[in-house]
Amino acid sequence: MVPDPSEALHHHFPERRAFFLCVSAENNMAEVAVQSERRSEGIVINDDWPGYSLDLFSYPAHYSGDLDCVIIPHGVIMDRTERLARNIMDDLGDHDIVVLCVLKGGYQFCADLVDRIKALSCNSDRTIPMRVHFIRLKSYLNDQSTEDLHIVGAEDLSFLAGKNVLIVEAIVGTGKTMRTLLKHVQAFRPKMIKVAGLLVKRVPHSTGCVPDYVGFEIPNRFVVGYALDYNEYFRDLNHICVISESGKMKYKI
Ligand code: IMP
Ligand code: MG
Repeated sequence: MVPDPSEALHHHFPERRAFFLCVSAENNMAEVAVQSERRSEGIVINDDWPGYSLDLFSYPAHYSGDLDCVIIPHGVIMDRTERLARNIMDDLGDHDIVVLCVLKGGYQFCADLVDRIKALSCNSDRTIPMRVHFIRLKSYLNDQSTEDLHIVGAEDLSFLAGKNVLIVEAIVGTGKTMRTLLKHVQAFRPKMIKVAGLLVKRVPHSTGCVPDYVGFEIPNRFVVGYALDYNEYFRDLNHICVISESGKMKYKI
């Protein structure tokens, strides 16, 4: 019996549902369970949080004038990632997993998360044997989501059959991207799917789906850095920052 994983959320987010419900309700596949005992919204960054002045940190000079503020400094991302790795180890320790990194935005978070899980596997009596695989999605133009989500170079994922899959994504907005990806992955019949999302954005038209492991919940603003892009720019920035209006104009397509 799979417990209702949305229960833990009702107090804070009555409108939100765990991915498990979205997936199983549509496909009636209770065996593809996304279970989590400890579901959390992560570190909540409120709408009135002004961020840090860019002058307090170092960042590439080629982006001066293109950013409003640092919303999450790189060091804080790393500290939170370390804790997410611990939570994943507590839940999945001693299970083999296939880490499915969602490119391009997820590459940095995935690399750092896998690194931290590796460190825990070396320094405790529990380990998680991991394989790492990549999937590339594309849906955004400028700062707007486009209707059609592409899986770039979609390949056969039949090796996921019967496996425990951890999807690692940088940011979840409406949740449409993740829902599409979950359907795609689910078709290959894995034993279990869990989702780690570094950021969850508070958006008005959310599908209500949240990852099992959340780094930060952020305001509905367009953020870049730590591999998140605006038209392919800003991936080479360590901190997560809010793009400025002039930055949007400069790199608009
Ligand atoms: P969703 O389908 O609305 O959940 O959007 C998720 C996808 O949109 C992510 O995989 C990102 O590629 C992209 N995205 C959404 N918000 C941002 C943002 O603030 N910065 C960069 N990319 C974003
Ligand atoms: Mg993008």
